Amino acid sequence: MAVPSTNRKLLNWVAEVQALCKPDSVYWCDGTQAEYDRLMGQLVAAGAAIPLNPAKRPGSVLFRSDPSDVARVENRTYISTRTRDEAGPTNNWVDPVELKKTMSGLYDGCMRGRTMYVIPFSMGPIGSPIAKIGIELTDSIYVVCNMHIMTRVGDRVIETLGADGEFIPCLHSVGAPLKPGQKDVPWPCAPIEQKYISHFPEENLIWSYGSGYGGNALLGKKCLALRIASAIARREGWMAEHMLILRLTNPAGRQFHIAAAFPSACGKTNLAMLQPTIPGWKCECVGDDIAWMKIGPDGRLRAINPEAGFFGVAPGTSYKSNPMAMRTITKNTIFTNCVLTDDKDIWWEDMDEPCAHGIDWKGKEWTPGQKDAEGKSVKGAHPNARFTAPASQCPVICPDWEAPQGVPIDIFIFGGRRTSVMPLVHEALNWDHGVYMGATAASEPTAAALDVKSKLRRDPFAMLPFCGYNMADYWAHWFEMGDKLGSKAPKIFYVNWFRKTSDGRWLWPGFGENSRVLKWMCERVEGKAGAVETPIGMMPRPEDLDVNGLKVSAEDLKELLRVDKDAFRSELPDVEEHFDQFGKRVPARMRAELEVMRKRLA
Ligand code: OXD
Ligand code: MN
Repeated sequence: MAVPSTNRKLLNWVAEVQALCKPDSVYWCDGTQAEYDRLMGQLVAAGAAIPLNPAKRPGSVLFRSDPSDVARVENRTYISTRTRDEAGPTNNWVDPVELKKTMSGLYDGCMRGRTMYVIPFSMGPIGSPIAKIGIELTDSIYVVCNMHIMTRVGDRVIETLGADGEFIPCLHSVGAPLKPGQKDVPWPCAPIEQKYISHFPEENLIWSYGSGYGGNALLGKKCLALRIASAIARREGWMAEHMLILRLTNPAGRQFHIAAAFPSACGKTNLAMLQPTIPGWKCECVGDDIAWMKIGPDGRLRAINPEAGFFGVAPGTSYKSNPMAMRTITKNTIFTNCVLTDDKDIWWEDMDEPCAHGIDWKGKEWTPGQKDAEGKSVKGAHPNARFTAPASQCPVICPDWEAPQGVPIDIFIFGGRRTSVMPLVHEALNWDHGVYMGATAASEPTAAALDVKSKLRRDPFAMLPFCGYNMADYWAHWFEMGDKLGSKAPKIFYVNWFRKTSDGRWLWPGFGENSRVLKWMCERVEGKAGAVETPIGMMPRPEDLDVNGLKVSAEDLKELLRVDKDAFRSELPDVEEHFDQFGKRVPARMRAELEVMRKRLA
């Protein structure tokens, strides 16, 4: 086929990778629907994709991954900088020369028997001053089809790149070469000890080997838009964050834009598509996972969603928890590791209607309540089963979600899953205090992952697995951004929707009722809502929250807004230990915040 690009750097790199990986052929993706249909057709014909019932879920398919390849592999993810200190203690590090040597050995001939696809993609609306171009080379058609949905792929990217434009090279292989005549398996991948998800932030380069799943393989998402972009953003003075973006419009028509960071599986997609329960308020989704933010000509922080689709966790998603997500995935969606129902639709745990019988994510007959040999009940869908759906299909997608200049951010929210201690909401006293809140954010792992030592996982800014450089330097970058933004900086809040009573009852109903908390934040921005100063920050009194029609008792509300000074004080040694792992690199301003907190809690 004709090579559509004249970009020397790109042509040289493609030739270099072709010589190393030795694919049977090279194909340049044009990003068209016809291309998607043709490639998906090949996967269906090969038995790798199962078409779903067109009367129920038109244009949609189900994949089952290899049981060893079901999630991001944090312990095989590397930030490979010249020195270990640049990557910091929370990232895996290997010297770049050594890592490249090991991986070059693996890449040698790894695409034999396969086609190498060249995917030109834009993270962010093509041509936006905040967007970046990436090129992914991959031997996985599943990756090509997912990238079609998750990013903007095609000829317009090649045109924008021109003869000498810059791009981020992203090399990916499933690591499963085929011998002549060897039949492919439905989900090719390499064993765990050969998987490498490597980042070279000093040269904006990504090398991924051995996995075909999610963030390990769709390299625009976590690898480029967070790990590499966070390192670029620090150098260039902007921000790449693990944040949803939403627009809230009040009854008077004033718009507020909120960016919120929660660790994985703490309800980011649900909040991004929130349906307010308070009359007259409207919520629209700009993005559900990643925000790129630059200071605009007016001095305010402007955010874009670099992605074009949602790669959402399926189990738990229902018309009750997230009706807008359910409506987004009614067509043109790729499902991975869900149950296939008898009428050729998909199902997962906690969907609205029960499923009487189906084929589970491992391809076996399945009925609810089924037990394994040890008597444990077998889940039909893998807990990390996913849907990949175009953002444009979301009924509440914001009309400005592709605005090249982004939307102006008024509010940052941090949070996590805490069944105790952390109140429903509190507001930072100033920017530095807000940075302290983000840096100390913590979440309780789910029961399955609970071990005594990690009862509480500190996940600073929800970036623990996604920061492409030393986390302490990232904190310093946040302080610097605050200095640049000055009085135009967003207000910072911390929320916890997950408080329980000592006997395990949820105190807060969550979902659409969270709009009441967001309303208070917006009114704080407007200077309208009341608050009291507490040792941990500003908090609403019960009368400051709109509780009209809310079914929460006065006692529960009081408990949700109570500051347990003793409990906060008892967590300070853990905060100190958390900071100490970064030694001298911890900004003095962060240490100062800890000391101020200590005094306020005394
Ligand atoms: C995701 C994650 O997939 O955070 O978005 O794990
Ligand atoms: Mn995420």
